[in-house]
Amino acid sequence: MGVMRLGHVNLRVMDVEQAIDHYVNIIGMTVTQRDPDGCAYLKCWDEWDKYSLILTPTDEAGIIHIGFKVERDSDLDAIKAHFESERIPIEALDANVLPLCGRSLRFNLPSGHEVWLYAEKETSGTAVGDQNPDPWPDGLKGAGAHWLDHLALVCEFNPEQGVNKVAENTAFLQKHLQFKLTERGVAGPDGDMLVAAFLTRTSTPHDIAFVPGPSMGLHHIAFFLEDWNAVLKAADVVAKARKNPSLTPNRHGMTRGLTYYMFDPSGNRNETFGGIGYLGQPDRPLVTWTDEHVERGLFFLGGDNKAFMEIYT
Ligand SMILES: [Fe+2]
Repeated sequence: MGVMRLGHVNLRVMDVEQAIDHYVNIIGMTVTQRDPDGCAYLKCWDEWDKYSLILTPTDEAGIIHIGFKVERDSDLDAIKAHFESERIPIEALDANVLPLCGRSLRFNLPSGHEVWLYAEKETSGTAVGDQNPDPWPDGLKGAGAHWLDHLALVCEFNPEQGVNKVAENTAFLQKHLQFKLTERGVAGPDGDMLVAAFLTRTSTPHDIAFVPGPSMGLHHIAFFLEDWNAVLKAADVVAKARKNPSLTPNRHGMTRGLTYYMFDPSGNRNETFGGIGYLGQPDRPLVTWTDEHVERGLFFLGGDNKAFMEIYT
């Protein structure tokens, strides 16, 4: 019971038509819905719910909210009651306040990031259906991403002022929504300061990650690809389109993911993330990366960690 998986991310974009062109022709999503406010709703071919990405036109890039799907409608009552017993602010909202979804809950992480929980969302099925499906659909565009896999949030981190929202968010999700911490980066003279955290509610290495920065923001959203060849193809797609060059394909030490990063036209960082890495079963031992090895943890094959950590929306 409780949170089942990442359901969607709502991003701010500065030109929604340019953003749609990127997420359709580079990532490989399809538009499933538009609304009168100019927002676009998109899904990947291997997803069944109606959307995993909402693009909202605004005047700056970044993240508006994260949507997690809970397993049962009754979980919403249990979570609301728990939050209230812990005196954590949480708001209950009627069906369709969150577009195409049933009733929902809304709260903020200690970092300030807004989270919505819902149990029901309209579905439209995967592109290959559920009767004797082909392994992939015809006509895939761009990277042909399978699904929205995870996201990474930048959390305010200023140890000299006693601020560590990476640690606060991690403790919050562990205590109140039973997330499992799979991997962590630590630093400080005693090696006990949490500087990066990877948490999951599924069996993947992470559904959400927290990394440090001067203020809250979005580090990246990540889309799942099958393997290394698919990650290389994603890089080819970006290079062919002469779009937003980022780092070359690489491997993360943390999560073991095969990875390639790019930016959408507004500057929001996207990752195409290949391979399962490992299964994050509940009893899997916590992996720790110490300060002197954190660069290999980020990019196992080497790379520009500085820009990777400093640029975000
Ligand atoms: Fe990632």
